[in-house]
Amino acid sequence: MSLVISHWSFAKDKGQLTNDNSIKYVILMIVRVRFLPDDVTVDAEVGEPLLDVADRAGVFIPTGCLMGSCHACTVELEDGEIVRACISAVPPREELTINLFSDPTW
Ligand code: FES
Repeated sequence: MSLVISHWSFAKDKGQLTNDNSIKYVILMIVRVRFLPDDVTVDAEVGEPLLDVADRAGVFIPTGCLMGSCHACTVELEDGEIVRACISAVPPREELTINLFSDPTW
């Protein structure tokens, strides 16, 4: 597996004070996440829960159990992989496209 990082972000607000009161910076891997069919794009951190990213983007992903068993939150990644958003996080990729299914029963 190859890892491509689109850009790095230095997060001073997520830094920690060290013994000498200098700030230790944390490097975050940022992934550009695009939601279809609405075509909404936001930046997200690797490991950030997909439901949190969708919420921040103003995109609605239906949920039910929030434990991975009901499949209400099923979405499709650009490579065709089907994942349940409630138990998935942003993977280390340059970009991520998430296709939302519309299911009128949820
Ligand atoms: S909300 Fe039930 S599987 Fe995600």
